[in-house]
Amino acid sequence: MEPIIELKGVSKEFKTLKKKKGKLGFIKDLFSTDYLIKKAVNQIDLSIYKGEIVGFIGPNGAGKSTTIKMLTGVLVPTEGTILVNGFTPHKQRVKYVKEIGVVMGQRSQLWWDLSVLDSFKVMKEMYELSDADYFVNMSIFEEELKISELFYKSVRHLSLGQKMLCEIVAVLLYNPKLIFLDEPTIGLDISVKIKIRNIIKRMNRENDVTVILTTHDISDIEALCHRIVIIDQGVIIFNDSMHKMKQLVGTERKTIEITTKDVIGDDLLTNIRQGFIKENVLFNLVTNKKMEIIYDRNEVDIDMLLMKIMRNTKVIDIDTSDVRIENIIKQVYEGKLL
Ligand SMILES: Nc1ncnc2c1ncn2[C@@H]1O[C@H](COP(=O)(O)OP(=O)(O)OP(=O)(O)O)[C@@H](O)[C@H]1O
Ligand SMILES: [Mg+2]
Repeated sequence: MEPIIELKGVSKEFKTLKKKKGKLGFIKDLFSTDYLIKKAVNQIDLSIYKGEIVGFIGPNGAGKSTTIKMLTGVLVPTEGTILVNGFTPHKQRVKYVKEIGVVMGQRSQLWWDLSVLDSFKVMKEMYELSDADYFVNMSIFEEELKISELFYKSVRHLSLGQKMLCEIVAVLLYNPKLIFLDEPTIGLDISVKIKIRNIIKRMNRENDVTVILTTHDISDIEALCHRIVIIDQGVIIFNDSMHKMKQLVGTERKTIEITTKDVIGDDLLTNIRQGFIKENVLFNLVTNKKMEIIYDRNEVDIDMLLMKIMRNTKVIDIDTSDVRIENIIKQVYEGKLL
């Protein structure tokens, strides 16, 4: 099967001025031609297939938004080739944008002065959607999101969550083949997040829309994504299923959370770490009185470890669970896994 999105050796460099030090630095900056090259995206290869929901994640500054902007034709790659649904995004923007939907958490594409319903009608006309399709889609949005409650409000008076729901509706409305969502759930409460997840799932299932999603909320990824692509410092460091990621960490891993009466100091940590191999057990401080221990059941004698901790400090609570996906991803970011 041909991929719907294909990136080959794609890089993006930004030129920024090298900052001058000292009292007159500001004046010098004004006339400087001394540039720094920042490689925000570095030689990435990626194929995405029709109907996939791909979670595109990575720490702040990793290159996610830069990649999305290249995929949507807003930025031109410094090197490499990008094909999306047969188009080179930055060269064929006018034709291309009819087939894609883009929602950026920080940017609005609704008309500030129109009512919500009028905004949707404008979208319908712009994208030449038939009355029948418009009706079918609006019925779905009503069922999942109760969107009619907002019809006669003006966009400028919507709350953050209401506005994001409308942004997503405005994009899904015209049946794009692909949607790019850059942090759509940022700052939203859980009930709105769940609505957004549900509508994405439904449009993916019923219309086979391909979804590329960036988020810092791992529960969005768990709820939606078939595949995870992790980018770090412009380089793709993981590209596989959630299942594979869990496997990599090993199903034998467990988490214990220990709450202590007193503040956990460095000396205590050093003391309990002694005698254990770093690969088999990880100690993370959750708060200054709570630590999380992620360990391999086959390699670590947990009774001994707990006894050691209890000998050194007063423990007031112990909680166990399987490894949380957040922790797995944290380990990937920190280079502990790959
Ligand atoms: N227009 C620009 N000019 C110069 N540098 C830029 C520009 N846009 C992005 N960068 C830099 O490129 C790198 C990648 O930025 P990008 O916005 O793609 O990160 P991100 O993964 O989306 O991060 P976040 O999770 O914070 O949104 C950063 O170091 C950023 O400072
Ligand atoms: Mg970003």
